[in-house]
Amino acid sequence: MKEPFNPFIINTYQGKEYFCNREFELKTLISHIENDRNVVIYAWRRLGKSALIHRLFDELESSKNYETLYIDLLATQNIGESIQSISAAIYDKYGKTSNGISASIQKLMASIGATISFNSLSGAPELTLGVNNTKQPNQSLAALGEFLATRKKRVVIAIDEFQQINDYQGEKAEAVFRSWVQQIPEVRFIFSGSHRTLMEAMFTEKKRPFYQSSMLESLQPISLEAYSEFITQHFQVAKKKIELDSIAKIYHWSRGQTYTVQLVCNHLYAKHNKVTNADVDVVFDQILVQQQAIYANFQKMLTRTQWNVFRAIAKEEPLQNPLSKGFIQKYNLGAASTVSTALKALERLELVIKDEENYLVHEVQLARWMARI
Ligand SMILES: Nc1ncnc2c1ncn2[C@@H]1O[C@H](COP(=O)(O)OP(=O)(O)O)[C@@H](O)[C@H]1O
Ligand SMILES: [Mg+2]
Repeated sequence: MKEPFNPFIINTYQGKEYFCNREFELKTLISHIENDRNVVIYAWRRLGKSALIHRLFDELESSKNYETLYIDLLATQNIGESIQSISAAIYDKYGKTSNGISASIQKLMASIGATISFNSLSGAPELTLGVNNTKQPNQSLAALGEFLATRKKRVVIAIDEFQQINDYQGEKAEAVFRSWVQQIPEVRFIFSGSHRTLMEAMFTEKKRPFYQSSMLESLQPISLEAYSEFITQHFQVAKKKIELDSIAKIYHWSRGQTYTVQLVCNHLYAKHNKVTNADVDVVFDQILVQQQAIYANFQKMLTRTQWNVFRAIAKEEPLQNPLSKGFIQKYNLGAASTVSTALKALERLELVIKDEENYLVHEVQLARWMARI
C-alpha cells in the first residue's frame, strides 16, 4: 500500500497507523470471532463501521489464522446481485493462482451459473452471473458456502450495508440468508449497516429470521480524548501545531462523527503549520460551501412542511420535544398533527434521527448548513 500524503484519511482504511483508536471495539470483535459468535455492527452513517471492519480484517489476516471476505451490498437490488457480489469476492480472493485461474474456483463458479469474462477496456477478469441462476439462490449460496466451509483456515465474512436486503422485492432474502448462515456454522459472519433502525429491527424483532442470531454491537463516536491524542500526534510528526481547544471545537462541530472530524483535519493539515480557531472556522465554511449544491436539492425532495420541520430541527438541535407549543410557534410550523406527520416521514427517510431522546439531523454537515439558512 502506498503511504498517503495526508495522514487524515477520508476514504476507507489505509492501515492502522492512520486509524484512530477503537482498541476496545477491536478486542470485543476479536473475542466474538474467537468464540464463534456472529456479530452485528450498527451505527449512524460515517462513524467508522466499514473502516473498523477493515481494521479488524487487517488484524485477523496478519494473525494467519483467518481468511477474510468483505462484501458490500449497498449497490445491490435483488438477491441475484447479492450472490454476484459474494461470488465476486470469493473469486477475487481465491480465483487467481500463479498459473492462472484456479480450477476449483472455475468449477465452483460454473456450478452457480457464473461466467468469467475479460473486461474489454482493462482486460481484467470480470464475473457475471447467469440469469437463470437467480431463480435458485439457495443452491448457489449452498455451493459457495460449502467451498468456504472446507477452507483450512477459518473464514470470516463481513456483509456491509446488510439492511439493503430489505429492499429486495418479492423475495424472502432475510430467510434465505438466515438459512445460509445456519448451513455453514464454521464460517463467521459480521453484518453491518448504516440504517440503524432497520438493522436493529432485523435482529431484535421476534418474528424476523435473524432474531437473536448475533451479538449486537452499536458503534459510538470515538472519544474526544482519543481523537485529541491522534490528531495532536499526526500534527507533531509533521512539525505542525494544533491546540486542544481547536480539536474540541472541531469535534463538537462534527458531533464526533468520524468522517467530518477527518475531513476538517485533512484540510487544516494541508493548509497550516499552526492552526488557529479562526482557521478552523474558515475550513468549516469551505466544507459547507462545497456541499451547497447537494444540500439545496433536499429542499426539492421534500414537501414544504417537511422542509420547514427539517430546518427547524437543525436550528434547534438537540431538540427534545418537536411537538411542544414553544417549538412549533417559534418556527411557525402549523398544526401539531402536521408536524407529527412530517417528522415521521423525515425519520423514515433517516434524514432525522432520534438519538437518546434527542432529535437530530442525521448528516452533521447538512445540519450545520441548514442551521445557517
Ligand atoms: N478510527 C478511525 N480513524 C480514522 N479515520 C477513520 C476511523 N474510522 C473511520 N474513519 C474514516 O471515517 C470515514 C467514515 O468511515 P466509514 O467506515 O466509511 O463509516 P461508516 O461505514 O460507518 O459509514 C472514512 O473516510 C474512514 O476512513
Ligand atoms: Mg460503511
